[in-house]
Amino acid sequence: MAAPFGVCRLHFRVLGGLDKFSLGLETQAQIRFTSTTSAIKAQTENKTAKAAKESKTFQAIQEERREAAERSVLINCPPKINEKKFLDYLSKHGTINKHFFYNSYGANAVVEFSSRESIASLKDSINIPAVEHEAAVPFKSRLLSLKWPGSQSSNHPMPKFKEQSPASISEITQLLSEQDSIDEQLQCLTETLQLTEENISLRFLVCSLLRDIAGAYFPECIIRPFGSSVNSFGKLGCDVDMILDLNGIYATSQKKGSALSLEYQVKRGASERAVTQSILSVIGKCVDQFGPGCVGVQNILQARCPLVRFAHQPTGFQCDLTANNRVAMKSSELLFLYGQLDPRVRHLVFGVRCWARAHSITSSIPGAWITNFSLTLMVVFFLQQRNPPILPTLDQLKELAGPSDKCVIEGNDCTIVSDLSKIALQQNTDTLEKLLQEFFEFYGNFPFNKASINIRKGKEQTKPETTALYIQNPFETTLNISKNVNATQLERFVALSRESAWLLQQKEILKQSSDSPWGFAALLLPSVTSGAGVKSRSKRKLEPASSRIKNLLDSLKIKGGETVAKKGSTNARR
Ligand code: GTP
Ligand code: MG
Repeated sequence: MAAPFGVCRLHFRVLGGLDKFSLGLETQAQIRFTSTTSAIKAQTENKTAKAAKESKTFQAIQEERREAAERSVLINCPPKINEKKFLDYLSKHGTINKHFFYNSYGANAVVEFSSRESIASLKDSINIPAVEHEAAVPFKSRLLSLKWPGSQSSNHPMPKFKEQSPASISEITQLLSEQDSIDEQLQCLTETLQLTEENISLRFLVCSLLRDIAGAYFPECIIRPFGSSVNSFGKLGCDVDMILDLNGIYATSQKKGSALSLEYQVKRGASERAVTQSILSVIGKCVDQFGPGCVGVQNILQARCPLVRFAHQPTGFQCDLTANNRVAMKSSELLFLYGQLDPRVRHLVFGVRCWARAHSITSSIPGAWITNFSLTLMVVFFLQQRNPPILPTLDQLKELAGPSDKCVIEGNDCTIVSDLSKIALQQNTDTLEKLLQEFFEFYGNFPFNKASINIRKGKEQTKPETTALYIQNPFETTLNISKNVNATQLERFVALSRESAWLLQQKEILKQSSDSPWGFAALLLPSVTSGAGVKSRSKRKLEPASSRIKNLLDSLKIKGGETVAKKGSTNARR
């Protein structure tokens, strides 16, 4: 069935090296939003259509990464590593596809071989260390330590270490202030914050290492990352959400209808939840006692979604392992798909998430805060409301699905189209600056008291219950994903949205110089943050242009004026 969206991406320019992750693979075209000439527009449309046709499905990309992780090892190295000698030594076990170094509790290397046999050969040559005064758990994992006898010469070039930590807010503010437009600021923000190829590989590798432990009980199991590690909205430093997928165990090769059949004798639990809890508690215990590098293991089994939480020291990742959570995996696929449809989606989501974090609207601690997942759905909903819409509704994605896309999980129809080339988009040329401004206006005036956010219909619906914020769960449609949010937190979000919308309307916030934060960078300033939620809320509602905003603008005027005067030019002001 044809999508109700006509093709257009008039304002895209194809660039190399950017947004690599957004399209998943390096062979796919890299697209970035900007204003440009009609010649480039026509060229871009062709390339965009080609990229969409060539694009792999979410599942195919995940499968490729998972398979590569199974052929990889993680090695703790001495600080002055001779890269060439190191690679020569490992190459005895087979061809090396890729490798990279990073720092976390010392130097580490990820080495991906081209075949699994290399891992077996390598493992045969490795010793369990002899430890003095203690005893070692003789578990042979793919987490290794390189011993380099004697002192190493430092005359060889040092390997390049890939950064795995996020930039600080002050570094981001500085970097954004050097850009030339708010559109460029949001693109730059995405490039700075997004997960790198190496960081994604590390996430898959941690899942694969954990699978080796769980595989002792359930050899057919797979541990898959979900959430922001794979949905294309993850930023460096975000947690690794994992699912213990036991579905392979239920698959059988026995033909239906044959006269005789055999069944495994199994233990039974009181409910699926009870079975999940017992499996996770055993795996949690193994991770704690046998998992090298896994520390601070907590079994959080009474949560709505039972999980095992731990820190993986060699990568610095905070990990949450859940089981029986296929709907969450489907939600990740849905967000990934929305992120691929138009580059503005990711830029806006990264912008809104960063703004929300800078103002403590979101938090890493669970509580009554709005979550990143909720914020992302709010952006998707807003983009469905544009005229013409930038994103299709979930119902439209379902209508475009083919027979192989059919997916029902626990009675919920989770069907969405997997082939991106079937989705034709409507012509919408809004700039990121306009979208950001109108996002804040939209939610600064949204009737949260009576309406719910529904990306399935792409329309506001009457709120079925009295919670402060109601965002319908895309697949489990009777649930509200933001049930935890209280009125205070929602009011803070609304107040800050109004103030940010107002700020963006002021010409003083536009670029003055790269010495003072302007545009999106000014929206992140602590002077805006301070006082949010402290002042009387009713006062703030009546007075959106609060004094702290005036102070900010005054400070911008002073700083901008000084800089302009110093440079003896007024051209810096747009
Ligand atoms: P980060 O804050 O960067 O970790 O974003 P995230 O998207 O990974 O969020 P989080 O770690 O909180 O949750 C992981 C995934 O679980 C999300 O991407 C969703 O797919 C799913 N999820 C999170 N919260 C909810 C919820 O309230 N309801 C449902 N159904 N799924 C949720
Ligand atoms: Mg997460």
